[in-house]
Formats: sequence, structure tokens, C-alpha cells
Amino acid sequence: MDNYSKYMRTCFKLARKAEGKTSPNPLVGCVVLDKFGNKISEGYHKKYGENHAERDALLKLDKDAAIGGTLIVNLEPCNHHGKTPPCSDLIIERGLKRVVISSIDTNPVASGGIKKLENAGIEVIQGVLEEEGNELNEVFFTNINKKRPFIALKTATTLDGKISTKIGDSKWITSDKARKYARRLRTKYDAILTSSSTVLADNPEMKHKTKIVIDRYLKCDLSAQIFKNGKINIFTQKTPSEGDKYPHIEFIQNDKITIDFILEELFKRKIMSVFVEAGGKLLGSFVKEGYADKIYQFIAPKIANDNSSKSAFDGDTISLISQSKEFRLVDMKKLDPDVLLTYKPL
Ligand SMILES: NC(=O)c1ccc[n+]([C@@H]2O[C@H](COP(=O)([O-])OP(=O)(O)OC[C@H]3O[C@@H](n4cnc5c(N)ncnc54)[C@H](OP(=O)(O)O)[C@@H]3O)[C@@H](O)[C@H]2O)c1
Repeated sequence: MDNYSKYMRTCFKLARKAEGKTSPNPLVGCVVLDKFGNKISEGYHKKYGENHAERDALLKLDKDAAIGGTLIVNLEPCNHHGKTPPCSDLIIERGLKRVVISSIDTNPVASGGIKKLENAGIEVIQGVLEEEGNELNEVFFTNINKKRPFIALKTATTLDGKISTKIGDSKWITSDKARKYARRLRTKYDAILTSSSTVLADNPEMKHKTKIVIDRYLKCDLSAQIFKNGKINIFTQKTPSEGDKYPHIEFIQNDKITIDFILEELFKRKIMSVFVEAGGKLLGSFVKEGYADKIYQFIAPKIANDNSSKSAFDGDTISLISQSKEFRLVDMKKLDPDVLLTYKPL
């Protein structure tokens, strides 16, 4: 089993190479051992529409090379004809004796791989480093199980939890190193989302292929930096004027723009994960409505020492600390002089 854990970690590492490129598909890596237990191939799902990890690893080998061998993969092999034929069929065809899996595929369209392999006489070992496997595909499992995009909230704060001064000055709370790291995090997600208030206060560029701006009353000028590149979705309650229509900007209009409506519309458009970079009002709304799947909090060694400065997560008045929303720390990174704390809901 220990050996399988070692190879499963290799699968996770391979899978992560495609972070940000496989959506709406999961991140999957695969290792193949021959009948003597020697590693003879590895592969991963590189991009949506391209070969699944098992196919990528097996097609690198001669037809007979994997007979009697073991295939290790972090997600149950698929059992359906999508963009590529079922991986379970190829595994059977290539004569493998054993398949080792971390996570079960809960997608009703693709599942059933284990059953098919077992029916073909292949030994299936499930649940190897399952928690880590599920964590690796947190976006995919949120999409399948909750039928909505995965939401990551990002904030940069002082030690006293402030994100800007009363007059809206926030440049810069954290160091260059932390801000560079935050830009790298963006690329893991299908889209970034911000608010009209943040666009008006900071005029950020927020480079990304897909950007979402909540601007219910169309307060933003479309000459702002954020609208200059990428594909833009603007959620609004107002009708845009003809002069505001550009090919790269889609206005998504509704009588009432709520977070539920936004998530529903993004999911319909196959935006499976969203990195929210905004002030306390919007981040606080996501937390309040139970849509904080992950929180990245960069903390700088500074204290604003000012009650009128803005907080990272606004909300209602509570009387008891037991009324707080609770999270668990999943990662801690030193980005000298700052730190990044990553949380998930309890
Ligand atoms: N340090 C940091 O990490 C960081 C990051 C970003 C921004 N900032 C700072 O944050 C400040 C802005 O913060 P803020 O709290 O005033 O604004 P904010 O949280 O960025 O945005 C508030 C706006 O978000 C929209 N919104 C909020 N909740 C909503 C809900 N439940 N449904 C629909 N829309 C909702 C509304 O936009 P509409 O009314 O336009 O529809 C609302 O006016 C700026 O000074 C900026 O510099 C800091």
C-alpha cells in the first residue's frame, strides 16, 4: 500500500501540471507499473478535449507492455464516450491486472468504471490518499455535487484585518512578492470576479482570460483598465446604452442581481471556478450566503490602527462569537514579510 501511496503522490503531481487548463474536466495523473512492479509510463490529462491521463500513459507503451501490470490513477477511470472513448475499455484491452484509485468519480455521466473493471476480472484498490485526491479535485467535486462554480475569495489585509483606508487607499498593503503570488493563484481559476466599487476605487487591470464585474447600476466607465483585455461579463440591473456594446463584453441583465443568480449564470456558461478579488462588502456577502469554498488571506505586518478603515469581510452585527462563521486552516505560506493563510469551511 505504501508503494501505491508513493505513486499516487506522483499522480497528484502530474495532475497539477494542468491546473487551470482542464475545466470542466478534473485534474488527473496516472502511473503504469509492469508485472514486476517497475514504473514504465506516466501521463496526465493536459487540457480539456485531450486524452485522459490513463490513455495518455498507456498509449506511450507497446501494446503488450502493461499485461499483468498495475495502473495507478487519482480518479476512477471513466466509463463513457465523451471527447475520447472510455478509459476502462483501454485498461481492459491492455491486460492490466490491478487498478489503484484515490477518488471515486461522482459524475453520473462518467462513473461506472470500477464496476466494469471488476467485471473484467481486474483487481481494484480504492481510496488510496482519498482525502488528498478529493482536495486536488475540489473544483470538480463542487461542480458535480453542488451544481455551481467553486468560489475562492482573496483578500490582502493588515494585521487588524483592514483592506483599505476610509478614503479607499489600498496600494499597497502587501509586498511585491505576495502580489506576484496572488497573480499566479488567479491562473488556477476559470475567471476572476470583482465589483464596481473596487474598479472605481483602484482601477485595477486584473489580467485574466475571463473577468466578471458586478455593476448593478452601471457606474463603471468602460475605459477602465479592467475592460481592456479578456472576455468580460458584466452583471447589471440596468440596460446598457448602444455605445457601450463591445464584442468582448457581455452584459448579463436581470431585474435583481443576486449572488445565486450570478452563480447560476456562470455555471450555465461553463465557468467552473471563480477567484473573487473585491472589498469587504462583496467578500462578506459571499461568506454570508455560504459560498466561500476557499479563502486566501494575505496578511502584511502592518496595523492600520484606525476604526474607519475598511474591513476584509463586512456583514451584520452579531452579539456572540459563537455566531461567527468557522473555517479550518489548510495551508500556510511565508512570503516574507507577509504570510498567506488558506482556509476552507469547517
Ligand atoms: N486589500 C484588498 O485585498 C482589496 C481588494 C479589493 C478591493 N479593495 C478595496 O476595497 C474597497 C472597496 O470595498 P467595498 O467593501 O467598498 O466594496 P466591494 O466589496 O468591492 O464591492 C461592493 C459592491 O459589490 C456588489 N455587491 C456586494 N454584495 C452584493 C450582493 N449580495 N449581491 C450583488 N452585488 C453585491 C455591489 O456592487 P453594485 O452596487 O455596483 O452592483 C456593491 O456595491 C476599495 O477601496 C478597494 O481599494 C481591497
